Amino acid sequence: MKKMISVLLAAVLLVSLAGCAQTQKEDAGSQASAAENKAAEKTESATTAESTAAPESAIETDATAEKEPATSEAESAAEPASESAAEPAPEHSETLVVVFSATGTTLGVAEKIAAITDADLYEITAAEPYTDEDLNYSNSASRSTTEQNDKSARPEIGGDPLDLTGYTTIYIGFPIWWGEEPRIMDTFVESYSFDGITLIPFCTSASSGIGRSGPNMEALAGSGTWLDGKRFSGGVSEDDLRAWIESLQ
Ligand SMILES: Cc1cc2nc3c(=O)[nH]c(=O)nc-3n(C[C@H](O)[C@H](O)[C@H](O)COP(=O)(O)O)c2cc1C
Repeated sequence: MKKMISVLLAAVLLVSLAGCAQTQKEDAGSQASAAENKAAEKTESATTAESTAAPESAIETDATAEKEPATSEAESAAEPASESAAEPAPEHSETLVVVFSATGTTLGVAEKIAAITDADLYEITAAEPYTDEDLNYSNSASRSTTEQNDKSARPEIGGDPLDLTGYTTIYIGFPIWWGEEPRIMDTFVESYSFDGITLIPFCTSASSGIGRSGPNMEALAGSGTWLDGKRFSGGVSEDDLRAWIESLQ
């Protein structure tokens, strides 16, 4: 009997042990699956976060993409405007009056021509200004007489250089010195290119005509279309100048 009870107890113990082991196994399994689930959840939430973030960054990209063309559209919209703004409105008149005047007489005529033609005015000045003694034509040793006797003399021009860009017509004026243009005019015409420009010589004098001044300067310049020049007295009227200018058209 004792033996039977011992066997029974052993059997009960075995059964309860087995049950315990099973419960532990189940617990471990459920814990593991819980952990798996958590991990899965984490992965899912990460994926969700990524997929949530993805559209945002896509929106950002789209927004950027949209922004960029918008900017370039704005730029390209601005481009033609600036092009069309740059197109017309010339910066200055297409006509220029250039003058050398030692004592102011030819300058007065040049100013009238500039007013009539709505032209810009540029005065040629000598780097070394002419004094009264320099202009004394009664003195065969004076500077002006010496220069005029030397066809290769090229008195230096002072002041700012001239930009001829945009000019199509130049009235070119000077006093007559010993029958022709002062040598400083030769310096001037040799200093610039007159391609595409029409040049119209004019002069003042005590009585002499313009002589060969025009052809002289044309040959030295080597460019430009030179019209016949004309001599005026210092007191020429605006009407006479206007009539002459109109006769050139
Ligand atoms: C050196 C010199 C030579 C001159 N030679 C002549 C000449 O050959 N014939 C003439 O009619 N006038 C002559 N003149 C007078 C000037 O041509 C005239 O006074 C002119 O209108 C001066 O112009 P301006 O004030 O613009 O310098 C001469 C004047 C000078 C200073």
